[in-house]
Amino acid sequence: MFSVLCKPGHIVPNNTHFDTTRANIEFTGARAIDLPIPEAADTQAYLPFKGNIDITALEKLIVREGTAQIPLVMITVTNNSSGGQPVSLANIRAARELTQGHDIPLYFDACRFAENAWFIKQREPGYADKTPREIACEMFSLADGCTFSAKKDAFAHIGGLLCTNDNSLAEQEMNLLILTEGFPT
Ligand SMILES: Cc1ncc(COP(=O)(O)O)c(C=O)c1O
Repeated sequence: MFSVLCKPGHIVPNNTHFDTTRANIEFTGARAIDLPIPEAADTQAYLPFKGNIDITALEKLIVREGTAQIPLVMITVTNNSSGGQPVSLANIRAARELTQGHDIPLYFDACRFAENAWFIKQREPGYADKTPREIACEMFSLADGCTFSAKKDAFAHIGGLLCTNDNSLAEQEMNLLILTEGFPT
């Protein structure tokens, strides 16, 4: 995905990039930028959604660097490299509104989406009566796609998914995958 979307000089913001995600972005010459909320650095602070992306910092970055420099924004759910902290639906929605307003696609690094949905059910007002599946559907309805390492938790021994709503991007990705993974099935 990054081979198709990113060029040298581009910037890809995330709440916190997982190291292999960062490596794949920076291999293209783009910069992977972390924008966690400032409280995430305080190990003693208790917040229900300490994995959130800093919306104010994201807006400043988009305005400063310009939309053309940012091929996508990512949110990692849960935010593994920042202590496995969850992200709220309110935060995902705010990121969606901001990125949509600037015509920038939003992708999840989604390998712990189920755990994140469970935290939303437990902690976010208005979601206690929804099932984790309903919450996950609401999360994914706000994104253009995701990267997904399936070998976490209950899903699979190995492998993953690369999902996108963009058919042209999917075709380019599938062509490149022939070089590294073989024909898509
Ligand atoms: C948030 C996140 N993204 C990506 C990965 C990378 O997964 P894989 O090793 O399947 O490439 C991990 C692995 O722990 C992860 O926690």
